[in-house]
Amino acid sequence: MERLGDIAVIEVSNPPVNAVSQPVRAGLFETVAQAAADHQVKAIVICCAGRTFIAGADIREFGKPMLPPSLPEVINRIEATAKPVVIALHGTALGGGLELALGGHYRVALASARFGLPEVTLGLLPGAGGTQRLPRLVPFSGAVDLITSGRQIGAAQALDLGLIDKIAEGDDARSAGLDYAKVLIEESRAPRPTSALPCNPPEPGALDAARTRLAKSARGQIAPQKALDALQGACDLPFAEGLTQERALFLDLMNSDQRGAMIHAFFAERQVGKLDEIKGIAPRVIQSIGVVGGGTMGAGIATSALLSGLSVTLAERDSEAAERAYAAVTGLLKNAVKRSKLSEAKYVQIKAECFKTTKYYADLAPCDLVVEAVFESLDVKKEVFGKLDAVCKPGAILATNTSYLDVNAIAAMTERPRDVIGLHFFSPAHVMKLLEVVVADNTAPEVTATGFALAKTLGKVAVRSGVCDGFIGNRILSQYRKALDGAVIAGASPYDVDRALVAFGLAMGPYAVSDLAGLDIGWATRKRLAPTRDPCEAYAEFADRLCEMGRFGRKTGRGYYLYAEGRPTPDPEVDAIIAAERTAKGVKTRPLSAQEIVDRYMAAMVNEAARVVEDGIARRPLDVDVTLLNGYGFPRWRGGPMYYADRVGLDKILRDITTLAAEDDFLWQPAPLLQRLVADGKTFSSLNT
Ligand code: 3HC
Ligand code: NAI
Repeated sequence: MERLGDIAVIEVSNPPVNAVSQPVRAGLFETVAQAAADHQVKAIVICCAGRTFIAGADIREFGKPMLPPSLPEVINRIEATAKPVVIALHGTALGGGLELALGGHYRVALASARFGLPEVTLGLLPGAGGTQRLPRLVPFSGAVDLITSGRQIGAAQALDLGLIDKIAEGDDARSAGLDYAKVLIEESRAPRPTSALPCNPPEPGALDAARTRLAKSARGQIAPQKALDALQGACDLPFAEGLTQERALFLDLMNSDQRGAMIHAFFAERQVGKLDEIKGIAPRVIQSIGVVGGGTMGAGIATSALLSGLSVTLAERDSEAAERAYAAVTGLLKNAVKRSKLSEAKYVQIKAECFKTTKYYADLAPCDLVVEAVFESLDVKKEVFGKLDAVCKPGAILATNTSYLDVNAIAAMTERPRDVIGLHFFSPAHVMKLLEVVVADNTAPEVTATGFALAKTLGKVAVRSGVCDGFIGNRILSQYRKALDGAVIAGASPYDVDRALVAFGLAMGPYAVSDLAGLDIGWATRKRLAPTRDPCEAYAEFADRLCEMGRFGRKTGRGYYLYAEGRPTPDPEVDAIIAAERTAKGVKTRPLSAQEIVDRYMAAMVNEAARVVEDGIARRPLDVDVTLLNGYGFPRWRGGPMYYADRVGLDKILRDITTLAAEDDFLWQPAPLLQRLVADGKTFSSLNT
């Protein structure tokens, strides 16, 4: 604490994000009491050193015994101080940090500051008064939105809502706090405890409506519903009782599996980029991107780069295709304007200054990095890379967005294999978070580091993958799809499978996803791999039958489902095609329970993932978790397949595999790594470093 005249300044300094760890709580508890007792102090300012105001409770302490003082105790002491307490905010005031700010009497923030209660994204609810104080400051609907979505808002919106009192000029929160405190002293302003305010009333039926909405949008998650219970308490109970109830609900969630899973996901996403091979290596500077091919993926990649402030030149086969790509990208940008992700002025500027399409590869010459997104054909890609090598400037990185093909073979078409890498985006590329950075045999570490840096610029999570058919994600997907096709041949319908896995927590069932992506994509891959297919493989043919009938999914109005009026409905014709295959193969069908379907899905996923780790394609089990969570819709509240496998027990997964081998001993060969871990009594997490 520092005393400047009649103002006490308490500055929290706990790099990197000023998390409220036990020492910070103890320090605040003590210094606030000291400042309150100092007769010369007329006002107190609480601010933070470094890049941000407090970003929340220290997540590393979760799951361990909680040491006093608790955060609610600290905040209650701040609020009970008989002198005005000013909270000076900058960076990201999140979770317990924002709750602490709500316990202050006056809040001033820099214009760049952001605010949020992200606890639900960690399987928690605000447990230090956030659910009780926020609806006393902002409209009830605003509190419900912030608390149940975990989203962040900027300073202007925070001011509008009543969350903060003032936006300060400049970039020094501490000075802004001091200036504000001086004014408060001059005006003899009294403390203004938030808890003394009445709770803003909800619109009639608002809580019930929120429950119904969240039951759909946050299906399977406990925390958002519990957060509504706490908010209900803010309406119905005196403040102190509401606070007690909130804390009890928070502690319940702290002990839940979902909290453990979501915090695993949080740390895994930060660990995934920590790789020895790029430690301390400076990435190349990327300002301009080239994209070759402006179809589904090329248009999405270009949009993602433009939205992140990069300039883009997109090359297509001819003028007509270039025009189509231009319209596709500007259409996606226009949608971003509609959804308030981009201002109209910025849209106009991007169109005028940052984006062009061309039919000439030579126009890609000045680009720092070029992503190829042409048809999934090795011959076409090899030709494109030969041309790119000839025109691109020295030092430019050449990347392929291939889903399955051999990045080494593509790199070999150039004189610069060190500069070639796979950057595997997911569809829609301007939305999906995952980027697989596929490192080929000769890729330079600096180029790998640039892949990771680019992901950060694009707001994506990058995972390192080695080269193999399908890399981490699609390789695992291929195996679990075969296992699910096996379930269908054994007696389940594709609709049973989708239902079981949606109930498990997937946003969409795998067969519905295939319809969305287009069944022709998988068909092309199966045809490509047919010559090397082992004759012992039990190959399910019904997907090929559908494709032969032109049933490519949503885009043709029919796939596994029928899409009359856009909505998917099961189709008896598909059941009949499957029944015919079972009869031809002499399969005696049996019903499969939802649990059996889930167990089979998880067993296939975990078994292949263990191979992917053992082969070094994924560096660690956590890389698999991050891949499946961000690219394949695996429910975050289950932590990822490897985390899930550790929780249910690797011995159980291995037993399931052994049982399934009785049905198909080609597909269900246990991975040696899985067998070793079971024999040694170890978990996948023991391999996460
Ligand atoms: N506790 C402990 N460590 C944290 C942390 C936290 N709350 N928040 C971030 N960190 C660590 C990260 O693990 C990372 O560590 P590393 O360098 O060793 O990997 C480091 O801080 C930097 O984090 P990022 O890489 O994420 O840095 P960014 O600048 O990209 O993002 C951030 C900063 C926006 C603050 C982001 O880290 C974030 O969202 N943090 C989590 C915030 C949060 O969820 N707070 C709520 C906690 S729960 C709570 O407060 C309970 C309360 O209601 C009682
Ligand atoms: P697409 O068929 O929608 O688009 C390909 C585009 O490339 C077309 O517009 C075509 O005109 C253009 N093109 C073809 N040859 C070209 C050349 N020589 N020069 C310039 N342009 C050329 O294909 P899509 O779906 O965008 O896929 C592209 C790549 O991305 C493929 O390698 C695919 O495997 C991969 N991918 C696809 C995903 C998806 O969900 N569609 C997901 C992740 C990767």
